Amino acid sequence: MSQITIRLVDTPADMARVEQLQAAVWSGADHEVVPTHTLLAAAHNGGLVAGAFDGDRCVGFVWGFLGFDARTTPPRLKHCSHQLGIHPDYRQVGLGFALKRRQWGFVRQQGIDLITWTYDPLLARNARLNIGKLGAVCNTHRRDEYGPLHDTMNAGLPTDRFQVDWWLSSDRVTARMLGPQPAAPRLADMLAAGAHLLNPRAASGAAQPPGPDLAAGLPAVVLIEIPSDFLALKMEDAAAGLAWRLGTRAAFEALFGRGYVVTDFVRDQDRALYVLTQETQDAH
Ligand SMILES: CC(C)(COP(=O)(O)OP(=O)(O)OC[C@H]1O[C@@H](n2cnc3c(N)ncnc32)[C@H](O)[C@@H]1OP(=O)(O)O)[C@@H](O)C(=O)NCCC(=O)NCCS
Repeated sequence: MSQITIRLVDTPADMARVEQLQAAVWSGADHEVVPTHTLLAAAHNGGLVAGAFDGDRCVGFVWGFLGFDARTTPPRLKHCSHQLGIHPDYRQVGLGFALKRRQWGFVRQQGIDLITWTYDPLLARNARLNIGKLGAVCNTHRRDEYGPLHDTMNAGLPTDRFQVDWWLSSDRVTARMLGPQPAAPRLADMLAAGAHLLNPRAASGAAQPPGPDLAAGLPAVVLIEIPSDFLALKMEDAAAGLAWRLGTRAAFEALFGRGYVVTDFVRDQDRALYVLTQETQDAH
């Protein structure tokens, strides 16, 4: 992958390549592709479109626009990152991370210290990238954020999303952008240190969604397991996919309501688990 270059995209010719790539990333919904003119308007007005190019071919992109974070008064200026996509043949070699690091540098230079975006909390690879590798945190769960989407990744289920906060100048993010990745936490160590696993596996050994009731008096660190490959699971068994959607929706909403924040992600052999810590986001 050494021939791949990452660069800003702001010409009609390059933007058409970004438009084309979307169909390969989110197949089955050509009408949901963001068109060249919208991407150019964002790029020419304070937003960002960056691409990963293999020669002339665009194999990855990230884009976003300026927005306001309405949780503070007055609202805080932020960058709203809308899509990150890597061609299936170019995944898992760090291009997603490299594009986000480019975005981090660009937005910081604008004097903005917050980027937010949404992603499906049941996708373990996205969680590993967003929470584990990039150091974003989350205490916002949005039900059915985009209504029905028709691409193969999203079709058939409510489009619940985490909205993550990426605090660009925080120690946790700066360390990840500039230095080597911190060691990912290990499940056995977390359990030994007193973390509570909200959805223990069934007697069969299968991961199962959290139940409807949240116990009182949970410890400061709570773990929620998610499927290691949710897309395969829901293709095989749509009812199981919905049970995971609704079970995790209830659990995340309840925990966020109690002041928990998603602060890390465990990937241990075939297991994938969120780490939630009861503290304020300002601590990050
Ligand atoms: C999500 C996506 C952008 C990631 O891109 P990428 O270039 O593969 O990302 P990276 O290589 O930087 O990081 C991916 C990490 O996830 C890990 N991963 C892959 N599959 C995983 C799984 N099932 N469970 C946990 N982690 C997983 C990879 O091993 C890697 O971590 P590592 O560096 O510790 O090995 C890409 O998969 C994609 O385009 N997906 C479809 C579109 C999408 O979901 N976009 C984001 C929302 S808009």
